[in-house]
Amino acid sequence: MCGIVGYIGDQDALPILMRGLKRLEYRGYDSAGVALIASGQVATAKSPGKVAMLETRLDLLPAGSPCGIAHTRWATHGAPTDENAHPHVDCRGKIAVVHNGIVENYVELRAELAAKGHRFVSETDSEVIPHLLEEYGATDDLLSAARQTETRLDGAYAFLAVVADRPDVVVAVRRASPLIIGLAHRANYIASDFSAFLDATNRALVLENGDMAAVTADDVTIFDSTGAEIEREPMTVNWDVRQAERGGYSHFMLKEIMEQPEAWADCLLGRIQNQSIEVEAMGLRTSELTRWQRVQIVAAGTAYHAGLVGKVLLENLAGIPVDVDVASEFRYRRPLLTPDTLVLAVSQSGETADTLASLHLARERGVYTYAITNSVGSTLARDADAAGYTYAGPEIAVASTKAYTTQILMISLLALALAQARNRARPDLVAQLGLLPALGEAWLAQSDSVRDYSELLAASNQMFYIGRGMDYALAMEGQLKMKEISYIHAEAYPAGEMKHGTLALITEDVPVVAVSTQPDLAVKLRSNVEEVKARGAKVFAVIDQSQRSAWGQDAMAEVHPPSPWLSPVLAAMPLQLLAYWTAVARGEDVDKPRNLAKSVTVE
Ligand code: M6R
Repeated sequence: MCGIVGYIGDQDALPILMRGLKRLEYRGYDSAGVALIASGQVATAKSPGKVAMLETRLDLLPAGSPCGIAHTRWATHGAPTDENAHPHVDCRGKIAVVHNGIVENYVELRAELAAKGHRFVSETDSEVIPHLLEEYGATDDLLSAARQTETRLDGAYAFLAVVADRPDVVVAVRRASPLIIGLAHRANYIASDFSAFLDATNRALVLENGDMAAVTADDVTIFDSTGAEIEREPMTVNWDVRQAERGGYSHFMLKEIMEQPEAWADCLLGRIQNQSIEVEAMGLRTSELTRWQRVQIVAAGTAYHAGLVGKVLLENLAGIPVDVDVASEFRYRRPLLTPDTLVLAVSQSGETADTLASLHLARERGVYTYAITNSVGSTLARDADAAGYTYAGPEIAVASTKAYTTQILMISLLALALAQARNRARPDLVAQLGLLPALGEAWLAQSDSVRDYSELLAASNQMFYIGRGMDYALAMEGQLKMKEISYIHAEAYPAGEMKHGTLALITEDVPVVAVSTQPDLAVKLRSNVEEVKARGAKVFAVIDQSQRSAWGQDAMAEVHPPSPWLSPVLAAMPLQLLAYWTAVARGEDVDKPRNLAKSVTVE
């Protein structure tokens, strides 16, 4: 939620900040702004809309400033307007701040500051920060003012602050929302994530919760929550900048769908040896695997849907009962967590506030936590007892695709590892996992028919996705993709449940996507499909090869899983492409769907 980027070094900050903003735009894109320090002044430019709009408003900014901060916003308090866009400044325009997260006590702070004569121009919670900094004398001592400001703020946030007379320092504060410092030659970057500065460096210091940093062009000094100076170990990611760019593709989403076979190969690399799972390569210890008698999965959105597929895999392959909860609901249902439970938190970004809160609750209860995430060094990875990375590479499109299928792969590996430890080893399935990248490549090479069908769907106002068992879990992900980027109202239903009420909504104008990749459920699913067809629905089916003859003339995409247990990884692709091409046919902004942001760091 919101992307922040700062630069201090020996080059012109403006183009560097603008490049960083473009790469962080997936975190929020309803308004953007930049502040530069030059000639003892803070110069700002802001715009509602996307970063491209901001680019048209940079004329009046000074060239050659070595220091600046910038922001791309996902609105929480106040509409996307010039006034509400960041950076926010103090009364004299000498202090500028960009902020990610929420200041929960901003109403009281605003009243207190207004009573002291501070003038507010926005509706945001963020604007209290530059005014508090002003109140605490930031123009004389930015670091000390930031320390005092930090003690006044409630909530989860990260902010960067600069002052007019100090072009040599950016102060960064992290409380819960992510912030990392990219270390380059005679320059340092501060950003919400690596992609902002990957073209300059892949080496960074990850600020811990409660850290504050004074960043200059050649130095970074970090203080922990007690105010003591502390060393943090730099980390390196093996992403390169091309992965964070679109290449020849018209959208990141399409690129990321097409990258899946490679992502699966990277995810499996080193984790399968002689038809068995290399547990240590998943960040776990073999000795621990027999200890867990229950698994509790917590996740949000697409990651939650991966968890639903995971439940079927873990229960059937490892014989362990599994609960799956939407992370935002988990802690409020006062879950019963026994000491023999493994809490599995799944998150692409590793920064989703609800998932982190669920993980922290489990840790407070003394329960072992394992994170499956795509983000090396993310809060989730660091706060969990153990972490396994999906290695899908940067996922920029808001609609999650390769993160989803690699999450399923990771849970499959976990299920097979647990099965192994419980004398239920499935060497056949372990070997078949290794076939998926090639099967994925082959399927993608002939995926055009999905596009043709999407043109038909594009005219719909509502649609249903149906399936049974794992296919229902997959249908849920299919409908989320469709809703998220095409804005067609779509609903996933267990196929057998339609006749208990929902069938009333089926007409010839309501298409149905049927997912049928489980041979043991195929006949039952087929009957449910006949029921919707009898009410006029046009059906598009995603099937596995064993069902080709039964589906005859129906519009369909056929996948060739080596085992029904592994079909979700392959069958996700036609569903992703169906949503993608439908959104394209409707002329929607696929990578930046309205009202959404990639990384949801507020509750
Ligand atoms: O980073 P996370 O995996 O924790 O994100 C969770 C959801 O916000 C995310 O999957 C969201 O549902 C996607 N935009 C769906 O495509």
